[in-house]
Parts: sequence; C-alpha cells; structure tokens
Amino acid sequence: MPSSLPAAQEVSSDQRKPPQAESRKRQPLLLSAAIIVSSLIILAAGYSTISFAQTRVFDGKWLHRVPDEDRARKNPFAHNPQAAEAGHQLFLANCAKCHAADANGRPNRPSLRTERIRHATDGELAWMLQHGDPYQGMPQWSSLPEDQRWQIIAFLRTLPPGHPRPSSRSGSSM
Ligand code: HEC
Repeated sequence: MPSSLPAAQEVSSDQRKPPQAESRKRQPLLLSAAIIVSSLIILAAGYSTISFAQTRVFDGKWLHRVPDEDRARKNPFAHNPQAAEAGHQLFLANCAKCHAADANGRPNRPSLRTERIRHATDGELAWMLQHGDPYQGMPQWSSLPEDQRWQIIAFLRTLPPGHPRPSSRSGSSM
C-alpha cells in the first residue's frame, strides 16, 4: 500500500512498525473469527433442520410445493384394475419397506391410507413420486418409468381408509 501520510509514518517508525502494518496483521484474525462465526451459524441451521426431521411430523407441506399444472395432471391408468395390480407389485417391491405392505405406515414413516392421500390429486401424488421429499426421508422415484409411477398411484386409490395399528404405534397421527 502506498503511504499517504508520510509525516505520521516518520513519527512512529522509530520504535514500532507503522500503524498500517499492525492493522494488516489483525486482518487474518478478524477473517478467521468471521469464518468461525459463520460456520457456527451454518452448523446451527443444519442441526435445527435435522432435529426438525427427527420429530417426524408429517404435515403434508410438500403439497404446497406442487406447481398447479402438475396438480391438474390425470392418471392415464385411473380405474384400471390391471394397472392397479401391477402397481401393487411395484408398491411391495419399492415402497412397502417404509410404508408397510398394507400402506398403513411404520414408525416414522407415514401411512398412505390417510385423508391427506385420499384427497390429494393424482397429479400431486405423481409429483411427490417424481421428486420425493429427500430432507424428510422420502426418496424420489424418477428412476421408475412414469407409467409405473401412475400404476402405483392407481393401486393407492384402491386402498380403503387406514386404521391405527393396534399396538406399538402410539406416536403416529391419523
Ligand atoms: C426410505 C423410506 C421410504 C420409501 C422406500 C418410500 N417412502 Fe414414501 N415417504 C417416506 C417418508 C419418510 C415420507 C414423509 C415425507 C414427508 O412428509 O415429506 C414419505 C411420504 C410419502 C408420501 C406423502 C405422504 C403424506 O402423507 O404426506 C407419499 C404419497 C409416498 N411417500 C409414497 C411412496 C411410494 C408410492 C413409495 C414407493 C414408490 C414410497 N413412498 C417409498 C419414506 C419412504
């Protein structure tokens, strides 16, 4: 840096370094303090996200993220019993380990026989299968061909309303 104040520098150069050099020395300290503070903030934000996920409140917030044009999509396999049967097999292979073979859910995994799922449009369910909700532990299923995703949705439509498990399921609502 060019010294703009030669007079001031002359005064201080006898015993110690010019003030500019000192403040430059402090900069790395300030920088690392800033880095520490911001990483603490990031850590705290991450932790609160994780602990939110651990409370396992399935509030259906994903529904708000579905764009209107996706919401309005119709299932080409609606009311098609063969498609629903194919969807049943796909459900057992891909979904049952989390949502249970009867789709009544497991601890920390929501039932798919709830009011929310029955009232969701075909398009909303298709959007959820395509995108998942990775932060809440729901994988995306874009690796399955779209037809197969529609077949799974046709199967879900055949399920009667769910019932609470007789035992071991105190926490899950609905
Ligand atoms: C690894 C476990 C896992 C697998 C496998 C899985 N899910 Fe999920 N699923 C979840 C979790 C956890 C949620 C809750 C996510 C949320 O609330 O945002 C969820 C949510 C859902 C929802 C929305 C439920 C609601 O009430 O909001 C639907 C619909 C769904 N899954 C369908 C499926 C289907 C169909 C499959 C198979 C293709 C599947 N899931 C496979 C864990 C899983």
